[in-house]
Amino acid sequence: MSDTISRRSLLKLMATGAAALATGSLLTSCKKKSADPVTPDTTQADTAKQEELSNSNDTHKSDSHATSPKRLVFFFTGTGNCLYVARQLSQNVISIPQALKKNELEYEAEEIGIVYPIYGQMMPNIVRKFLKIAKLKYKYLFAIGTYGNNAKHAVEKCIASGNDAGLKFDYIATLLMVDNWLPRFDMAEQIKLDKNTDENLAKIKADIDQQKKYIEPHEESAPAQPAPQNAQANPTKPVSPFAEDGIHANAEDWFIISDACISCGICVRICPKANYSLDGEKASCKGECELCLACIHACPHKAISIKSGEANPNARYRHPNVPLRDIINANTTRN
Ligand SMILES: Cc1cc2nc3c(=O)[nH]c(=O)nc-3n(C[C@H](O)[C@H](O)[C@H](O)COP(=O)(O)O)c2cc1C
Ligand code: SF4
Ligand code: SF4
Repeated sequence: MSDTISRRSLLKLMATGAAALATGSLLTSCKKKSADPVTPDTTQADTAKQEELSNSNDTHKSDSHATSPKRLVFFFTGTGNCLYVARQLSQNVISIPQALKKNELEYEAEEIGIVYPIYGQMMPNIVRKFLKIAKLKYKYLFAIGTYGNNAKHAVEKCIASGNDAGLKFDYIATLLMVDNWLPRFDMAEQIKLDKNTDENLAKIKADIDQQKKYIEPHEESAPAQPAPQNAQANPTKPVSPFAEDGIHANAEDWFIISDACISCGICVRICPKANYSLDGEKASCKGECELCLACIHACPHKAISIKSGEANPNARYRHPNVPLRDIINANTTRN
């Protein structure tokens, strides 16, 4: 029928609306239920709280100078773990990709914290870049690396990244959470594991509240877990992206986008490196990549996958207390 909208167009129209809502662009003064396409059941109270928290992501020296906050926490996240942790530690949280968009990176607070996901034991490239560029004024500096399986050398790498940037951390700890590394871990299994995250986070918070000076010894990281049985379903081994100086990866080498793509644009908005575009029938990606996996975990149609294979291509993850739009707001390169 000529006047019938094709299924793909209809899905695209619906998804465009959903994506706009996810980024907050269609939110009006009347409080609506969250239109987050992946976590639809957010309560009004939660939505109001999340909006308030989302706004705090934009805290910047120019806004906070007059009332310099006691504690400022910078974070980078692909799937929400680090944003969740940052928010448990402070009301004043700042996304590192957003901070890097500003010209002036001068921040002052009595306590400054960095919450980052551990990638191959290291801080993500974008976090190390931020530490080098930013001018931070503080009395107490702490770093929390979240990880999912093995953080054996993460603390020494964190100290080294601090040294490279001329910074000395007063407190460094790691925190075991869901492992979002899809080549090796099945998200459906990961979310079932009790990793004592909230108890461990409460201990970290109590330490920081006392401005405790502490560098976690290696053996305190939870021991590495054996690879799950279904790991590396596809035995094609990619060239390892993990090098001494950080991640080396290009999005086009790592990801493949299937015809399930409905051009909703979520990957375009969530990528902190602006690697996605919607020029053709479906999304395409190209460019230097952090390997944060935000794009692949957030795609509502599981249209993005890792070329070399995944433990479970049907399972994706986002921290249950972090709405999709907050990760988009934290990472988007669009104004
Ligand atoms: C590229 C990449 C590398 C990772 N490397 C490690 C690692 O070396 N050790 C580990 O235990 N977890 C590793 N992980 C898991 C993440 O550190 C962990 O899931 C983190 O909490 C994710 O935080 P986020 O949700 O804020 O992005 C890796 C994840 C990615 C995407
Ligand atoms: S690949 Fe991107 S544009 Fe396509 S459906 Fe997934 S998130 Fe949407
Ligand atoms: S392409 Fe995906 S994995 Fe790479 S930086 Fe963008 S969102 Fe992260």
